[in-house]
Amino acid sequence: MTAAKKRILALNAFEGGAGLDRDVEELVRRRKATFGASSVLFYEQPLHIVKAEGCYIHTADGRAYLDLYNNVPSVGHCHPRVVAAVSAQLGQFNTHSRYLYDNIHDYAEQLLATFPAGLSNIVFTCTGSESNDFALRLARLASGGDGFVVTRTAYHGNTTAVTDVSPSSAVSGRVAPHVRIVEAPGSAVYGDDIATGFAAAVSTAIADLKDKGIGFAGLLVDTIFSSDGVFADPAGFLAPAVAAAHAAGGLFIADEVQPGFGRTGGGMWGFARHGVTPDVVTMGKPMGNGYPLAGVVTRPDLLQHLCDEYGYFNTFGASPVAAAAGLAVLAVLRDEGLIDHAARVGGLLKQRLAALRGTVPGIGEVRGAGLYLGLDIVDRNDGTTPDGASASRVINALKRDGVLIGAAGPYGHTLKIRPPLCLTLDDADRFVDILTRIGTGG
Ligand SMILES: Cc1ncc(COP(=O)(O)O)c(C=O)c1O
Repeated sequence: MTAAKKRILALNAFEGGAGLDRDVEELVRRRKATFGASSVLFYEQPLHIVKAEGCYIHTADGRAYLDLYNNVPSVGHCHPRVVAAVSAQLGQFNTHSRYLYDNIHDYAEQLLATFPAGLSNIVFTCTGSESNDFALRLARLASGGDGFVVTRTAYHGNTTAVTDVSPSSAVSGRVAPHVRIVEAPGSAVYGDDIATGFAAAVSTAIADLKDKGIGFAGLLVDTIFSSDGVFADPAGFLAPAVAAAHAAGGLFIADEVQPGFGRTGGGMWGFARHGVTPDVVTMGKPMGNGYPLAGVVTRPDLLQHLCDEYGYFNTFGASPVAAAAGLAVLAVLRDEGLIDHAARVGGLLKQRLAALRGTVPGIGEVRGAGLYLGLDIVDRNDGTTPDGASASRVINALKRDGVLIGAAGPYGHTLKIRPPLCLTLDDADRFVDILTRIGTGG
């Protein structure tokens, strides 16, 4: 069996299809008429949602779905403390960020206190894409170079500059001249010594840029390698690659849009798992639990450089309502002990999923940390070839049984398990039981 590659927006995508419920069909029609070609929906039968709470999403037909792949409402859908904080702030004061306002500064200080010393400045934005766009500019100015190294199926956002460093987006497979791609850090590619192999690949990529007269600006990775298929182990494997990037005069940019805010269960940040200190950290999705809040943390000298050249203002970044959402998220993470919870529930879930390998045909490797797990669906006969078609069937079968899950990896064959951090052990067990029952067959 050979595996077919898929671009990121094609994963678990609604592709038309007959047999839709009447209300869903009508909404799809209205959506297509207004969103046009940019419409991207999940599932063979898209979900028509009416509300959500905790780890559950409720649909118009009265069903409740266990949500196992949403890291936007990271501390739980519609968490009452976030809702209350945002609502109260909306009634108090909200505008752009060019005034002194207490909660913005409280938030900046509380958030920066979670970073290594030196990473002491923050720039607020509204999306992960804006954050990464800003990070690319920081790296270009600091290094004087233009070239970036990224992983094969990386996704870092949607601006022009960031799309260039997001190989999973390009339908054509075209790679921009200033970008070099390395394979994601898995044992299938690099063998037992992932750290050395990955660093060697990064060094080769940097050398190739330099050969072509393109200065090296930086290494940009999502520190849980989510769209590549989730790669977390062995902890520390990133360190030699980061050292190679620094030795070549570039920056290391840690994209924490996916692993950040406690998801990996070992503290707030994915990069900490590897014992490295980035030059730039970019954040988004879980930061405001659904309120658009994102940012870039970096060293003052790097930020100074950019502001000397251009300055930066983002109308909605650091608005008082955004800060209220961010403060509430930090408070919930702390008061509900969600980082330890992610480590405990995620660890047990990983063990149970790993036990399915060998007992359920087509279940392959499980990888990840905390509540960011990837489970490969592979050819039932050879046990190794990525099987994106079966993964797609599993995802839709899980949905029929009330469980929502995503896909990742170059072939869409990795089940992406990334629930709100409040996932209970009972719900984790229920998912494994359902997956065991439906299996990976047709
Ligand atoms: C790793 C990573 N970085 C950046 C982004 C872009 O974030 P946004 O959609 O908020 O612009 C995403 C979005 O999926 C992401 O997964």
